[in-house]
Amino acid sequence: MITPPPAMQQALQELLGPSGYLTDPSSLQEYGRDWTRFTPPAPSAVALPGSIEDVQAIVRLARQHRVPLVPSGGRTGLSGGAVAGQGEVVLSLARMNRILGLDTVGRSLSCEAGAITGNVQAAARAEGLIYPVDFASSGSSQIGGNIATNAGGIQVIRYGMTRNWVTGLKVVTGTGELLELNKGLIKNNTGLDFRHLMIGSEGVLGIIVEATLALATPPRDPRVMVLGAPSMTAIMAILEQCQGALSLLAFEFLSDLALEKVINAHGLQPPLQARAPFYALVEFEDPAQGDDAPILTLVENCMASGWVADAVLSHSEAQRRSLWRLREDISETIAKWTPYKNDIATTVANVPILLERVEALIADRYNDLEVVWYGHIGDGNLHLNILKPESSSVDAFQQRCATVSRELFGILSDLGGSVSAEHGVGLLKKEFLTFSRSKTEIGLMREIKKLLDPDGILNPGKLIEL
Ligand code: MLT
Ligand code: ZN
Repeated sequence: MITPPPAMQQALQELLGPSGYLTDPSSLQEYGRDWTRFTPPAPSAVALPGSIEDVQAIVRLARQHRVPLVPSGGRTGLSGGAVAGQGEVVLSLARMNRILGLDTVGRSLSCEAGAITGNVQAAARAEGLIYPVDFASSGSSQIGGNIATNAGGIQVIRYGMTRNWVTGLKVVTGTGELLELNKGLIKNNTGLDFRHLMIGSEGVLGIIVEATLALATPPRDPRVMVLGAPSMTAIMAILEQCQGALSLLAFEFLSDLALEKVINAHGLQPPLQARAPFYALVEFEDPAQGDDAPILTLVENCMASGWVADAVLSHSEAQRRSLWRLREDISETIAKWTPYKNDIATTVANVPILLERVEALIADRYNDLEVVWYGHIGDGNLHLNILKPESSSVDAFQQRCATVSRELFGILSDLGGSVSAEHGVGLLKKEFLTFSRSKTEIGLMREIKKLLDPDGILNPGKLIEL
């Protein structure tokens, strides 16, 4: 366990003042963890800088005293990337949350790293634009954290990941230097683009302090449809039909157990009269402005092929939102079972073979446990959540699931897939990184870390070691 020396504690107190340097037990608990519950939080302090200069000063102090820092955003991560369990100092960007400017001609927004995603989205909407990266945790996640984890979400099939929307970054490296990367430019062919090294680097190379984000035109009249399907094979067939006929914004799936958990927890009505093993939730731009005929034709064709048993289509914004809840509320609903989360991806073309093999593995290894499936199947990303039975200890459960994960990741590795599609590597997926990245790649990551964080003070123990 690390304890910052008294000289560093005093320097941080003087720099940040009483509201910027916290050591009370409840703040340590709150800031020391993310949404994972496998490692108990145990930071020694929380530093809340108010400016880039503060961040630089904190990094220099940490470097001088060799005390590790855990960069921290909204702490909604699911891989333990923001967990501080070793007496580290948490460096929270929560006070640096201002939106700095919005350019309607250049269609971009600049903000500090601690800006809440939902506030950025609202600022864009107020000007008739959108920041299109969206997910259930947008009300508390922060832009800096989204960038550090290259967050995905529910509309990646249409808009891509966070990486696609970052046009400028300010980052403080592990030596306290400030890098200004790409400066909001759309075109800039001047050699290596370090912005992309930082996006998805999980706080091990630098601390993101400001960002410039591209904005987009809002989609035209989004509508949502939920379709009940007999199998995952049918879900893939529905996807193909929808790809051809609709301008898709999202194509999600959930299992009946996922639906059951959400409707029971929130007292909601099932969306369809007949229950089905799986459901597709499809969002698309209204193809014929309120004329449902083309959509109904698509659904009828799917029914005739046996891929769809029943379907419901939104006719109002309220209905669209309530259908989305069935999917967006899953993660929070199942959190009480301390789920072991697999966030896997393959190419969309390989999804059917992956599903076949994963379904067989689950039947074999988890036949006594509840397995909740959902995910962004339209972009090849599946979330496989194993719910912890009350009778199991957290440790025993985690070990058992980690053993099965090795088999799962073996399947993925054969198919060239990813062991972490959008949640990041953090603590929980670190031991499995070799299933997705070669030894050479991991070695290069390490060399790059040495250059930018020579003393290894930034988020040690996560993603890669020095
Ligand atoms: C989701 O798709 O709901 C999020 O990635 C969170 C989760 O997987 O639990
Ligand atoms: Zn997801």
